Amino acid sequence: MPGEGSKRQPRPLVAGNWKMFGSAAHLGEARKLIRTVVARRPKCEVAICPPAILLPVLRRIGRSGKISLGGQTCHAAVQGAHTGEISAGMLRDAGARYVILGHSERRADNHETDAAVAAKTLAAWNAGLEPIICIGETAAQNEAGETAQVLERQLRDSIPADATLGDQHPLTIAYEPVWAIGTGKTPTIADIGRLHGQIKDRLADRFGEKGRSIRVLYGGSVKPENARAILATPGVDGALVGGASLKAKDFFAIIGCYV
Ligand code: PGA
Repeated sequence: MPGEGSKRQPRPLVAGNWKMFGSAAHLGEARKLIRTVVARRPKCEVAICPPAILLPVLRRIGRSGKISLGGQTCHAAVQGAHTGEISAGMLRDAGARYVILGHSERRADNHETDAAVAAKTLAAWNAGLEPIICIGETAAQNEAGETAQVLERQLRDSIPADATLGDQHPLTIAYEPVWAIGTGKTPTIADIGRLHGQIKDRLADRFGEKGRSIRVLYGGSVKPENARAILATPGVDGALVGGASLKAKDFFAIIGCYV
């Protein structure tokens, strides 16, 4: 099994980020995926994060409870005059267990700052959701040799100051190099291992050794062809998958690395 041998191994998570996709055909793919997950029983948790409006539909399709659901963002407030927004409590009521926060597309398109991500994280915790906080450097930052500092800053400032990691503060991190998202490019396996190691070190600096048990997912062009090597890398506790999560066959080829 990938990652075997390392201590404090959290249960891996393979989460699909559907982004703004979700046609009837995609729902058909989700049905197929759930059937395969039920039959093959992978040794990881599987989640789908669809557009929020599809959460109740997927909750019905996934009645077996074999897959978890997540939102793709939430507002920091419980409710209020915020046209077009959705609260963490609404996601939870619609069946979500997770919420992706600080995805690079939202950081870019909606100008989300680390402080905004921290505020949304608090809202997620207050509603009983587990945030999947995304961090990652841009191509320019990577080329300038700034990756380590960028990740350190995003980790420090996107996780609320008073986080304890207790039961009230469940947390997953996703390392997603911005230049790898949707491009077919990925860092080398050596770089993924090194950067996940650094992220775990920073989490241990902040939370003590238990910080190492926070799941750190890799995301950015994860495909059936590269999943096995990525998921076997020490420090990688699963994947956040965009494009390849929309096809049951491809998504299960990734999840199946844990069968
Ligand atoms: P990708 O997207 O797998 O299509 O690169 C990953 C993500 O944006 O979470």
